[in-house]
Amino acid sequence: MPATVIVGAQWGDEGKGKIVDLLAQESDLVCRYQGGPNAGHTIVVEGETYKIRAIPSGIVAGVASAIGAGCVVDPAVLIQELDDLEARGHRTDGLVFVSGNAHLIMPWHVALDGARERRLGKLQIGTTRRGIGPAYADKATRIGIRVQDLLDPKILREKVELAAGEKNVWLERVYGIDPFDVEEVVTQTLAHAERLAPYVADTSLLVDRALRDDRRVLFEGAQGTLLDLDHGTYPFVTSSSPIAAGAAVSFGIGPQRIDEVVGVSKAYVTRVGEGPFPSEIDGPAQDRVREIGGEFGTVTGRERRCGWLDLVALRFAVRVNGITSLALTKLDVLSEFDEIPLCVRYRLPDGSETEDFPAHQSDFHHCAPVFETLPGWREKLEGPALPAAAADYVAFVSEALTVPVTIVGTGAARDAVLALQP
Ligand code: IMP
Repeated sequence: MPATVIVGAQWGDEGKGKIVDLLAQESDLVCRYQGGPNAGHTIVVEGETYKIRAIPSGIVAGVASAIGAGCVVDPAVLIQELDDLEARGHRTDGLVFVSGNAHLIMPWHVALDGARERRLGKLQIGTTRRGIGPAYADKATRIGIRVQDLLDPKILREKVELAAGEKNVWLERVYGIDPFDVEEVVTQTLAHAERLAPYVADTSLLVDRALRDDRRVLFEGAQGTLLDLDHGTYPFVTSSSPIAAGAAVSFGIGPQRIDEVVGVSKAYVTRVGEGPFPSEIDGPAQDRVREIGGEFGTVTGRERRCGWLDLVALRFAVRVNGITSLALTKLDVLSEFDEIPLCVRYRLPDGSETEDFPAHQSDFHHCAPVFETLPGWREKLEGPALPAAAADYVAFVSEALTVPVTIVGTGAARDAVLALQP
């Protein structure tokens, strides 16, 4: 299909990087549409591990990669990533494109993110402290600095001076933090500008042309549906739109040009940061899932909270994204369990039960999971076919969601996947 969106169907960390890597090998252009270095995609190729935060993971497969207007770019992180890729033998020039309309994460955004979380104390969101929220806030209040500002030293200086002037007052007076030396930030940003200038592009035109030429374009979301600023579990969300429609917004194309939406879900659930999590596992089984699944954050190293698969939340993800098929990753992690519960409904505070994700936060915060338990398979998933109980598990998910499961992840390596017939 010419235009496919890969979207996280849970709270992020679904293993999108691996699915993108897989589908990127058949794509002409891979496009990252939101977020910034809060994301961390891990791809394992021939025993080599790549942890990518800014550039679409298609770059590892040598596919042209674009960062859209809906992203926020930390120039230092992007440069480091470009340098690392080049040092490992990957070409980046003529292959990496960054929208001039994307916003820059400046050093004060990172400082403010950390300071705000510290001030919130117990009420903190549990952000990745990479400056994401403050950068998007500046974009919305229209004092952000954009990637295209890097192309004009005079404008860049003016914008940095203006933004720093305001942010320094805020940092000092509200949070008691040392202000930034404006001249130092200007010098540093001008140096970044020199390195990044060749990569700045009109990514809307790039995608439009690619689609007109019948090229295969893959849009890669970061984070996940439940972290969406509008539709996720606010306020425990990120500051952008990971849902599939975000791809059209970020790349400036009409929504009707998207042909397929592949939802990526783990065979269980993880969440980092704070916030309600109905299917979170009680007791030692949670630690076992974390250990077996290696559930520690790529960006922050934090322990991920683990839960059994939540079909109510997944049904919601199918709805808000228009998911046309599902990739179920890390099914092998469940091979170690005799029985596998799945959350099929929520019991609401008034005693009623629902299969639909609650629209009101209080219902979600206070709902209890209703589980159905399926037998485990206790066998390695070596293919070509799944063990019967594993196939039943996948079929149960597919039927509950009325969406075909077309890919199953069976291990960390790049080729540890099974394609299933829809
Ligand atoms: P922020 O995006 O750093 O502002 O963090 C906001 C929320 O999104 C926090 O709960 C983070 O843990 C979560 N979050 C951000 N990026 C990711 C990710 O890539 N995977 C999982 N959670 C994430």
